Amino acid sequence: MTPDQAAAALGPRFHFGAATSAYQIEGAVAEGGRLPSMWDTFAHTSGTIKDASTGDVACDHYHRWPQDLALMSELGFNAYRFSVAWPRVVPKGRGAVNATGLDFYDRLVDALLKRGIAPYVTLYHWDLPDALAQRGGWLNRDTAAAFADYADAVARRLGDRVHSWATLNEPRCSAFVGHEEGRHAPGLRSRKSALQAAHHLLLAHGLGMAALRAACPWARAGIVLDVKPYEAVSDCAADQAAARRGDGVFNRWFLEPIFRGQYPADMLGWFGADAPITLAEDLATIAAPIDALGLNYYTRARVRHADGCGPVHLQEVPVPGVHRSQMGWEDYPQGLYTMLTRIHREYGPQDLYVAENGCAEADEWSADGCVHDPHRVRYLIGHLQAAARARQDGVPLSAYLAWSLLDNFEWGHGYRQRFGLVYVDFATQQRVPKDSALVYRDFISRAR
Ligand code: FCB
Repeated sequence: MTPDQAAAALGPRFHFGAATSAYQIEGAVAEGGRLPSMWDTFAHTSGTIKDASTGDVACDHYHRWPQDLALMSELGFNAYRFSVAWPRVVPKGRGAVNATGLDFYDRLVDALLKRGIAPYVTLYHWDLPDALAQRGGWLNRDTAAAFADYADAVARRLGDRVHSWATLNEPRCSAFVGHEEGRHAPGLRSRKSALQAAHHLLLAHGLGMAALRAACPWARAGIVLDVKPYEAVSDCAADQAAARRGDGVFNRWFLEPIFRGQYPADMLGWFGADAPITLAEDLATIAAPIDALGLNYYTRARVRHADGCGPVHLQEVPVPGVHRSQMGWEDYPQGLYTMLTRIHREYGPQDLYVAENGCAEADEWSADGCVHDPHRVRYLIGHLQAAARARQDGVPLSAYLAWSLLDNFEWGHGYRQRFGLVYVDFATQQRVPKDSALVYRDFISRAR
């Protein structure tokens, strides 16, 4: 399928845009009544972020959002995914709602709609109010109930205008990278904690869905999961089993409770005594029907069995001789097709969308005034083609949201990993659309 055919297959009504998240772009961490999140605390702890940076200023989007929206219009976007910062809206995590915080998102939503850009709102993209983190964060079951109250406050305010909602972004990453690998806030290193946090995150999703249904029953609500195909390097039984376990912890541990109300039996057996404590009604709450599933897709995993290695005893075996992004991730557009078609076939969500997809490169602003990112151009078009093929093969795919609109604070990596379609000169906050942004703009105009 050529890029032109892909554009035609996605068609004029398809949603094209990009995604961001609050802590990664907003800055203004002490303005408008916002209190710290666990990410402020984590980033300010020495040794946590590779370039010792924080999200204090980030892209200063809190002040520069009108300019950022104008950029989206210039690129032809008709959709934009962003997250609401819980610590702006309910600064102490529970209790008083901060009107100034809600006002910010209210203005943003109105301005997007005025430009014909559909807002995709994510309620939680990792910035847990620090006050809740101090009380155990996601290890405390009560955090899930606090999330539902916060979801209710946001939905009541924006629900008359926002059609697309996601409760959580990547509960897998929150749980495992934050509580077992320790690379993300809160920086814990315990499997048992990761699995318990995952359960409370899923519970928060379920309770959040109920809050969204009550406040705006007409909305299209769901969750965003990160997914990745696990492929064994050989046919040998041990490698095949390792790939199955990788899929179990990464994909099925979240897909199964959400769509089938159960944790995967093979993985429960594998985790044994580390499995989470759950109450009788939890899985029914978690499995409340969703309208749309957002997928974050970046790369695949090629694996072999490795005794004692990581939570599921496997080791990644990179394919030699292929381009890898700054994150070390292989370009593998076929994996997006694989995951879209598989999830459609096995779980059948009514609606699927690509909520994040992109790559980090060492982009530079050249003397000719442009930012040439040929690699990202290939990555972007390759994945749009894969998305178009999936749609042609019957997947109800409704949007593609590139990660990310802007270069931003890439969590533990700081500002060195540039994922933006638009380059940000962090010294001056100047924005420069990269070549990939212009190619994307042309692709979008051909789809229309
Ligand atoms: C995803 C996150 C997003 C960004 C990309 C690169 O896991 O959701 O915030 O960091 O990875």
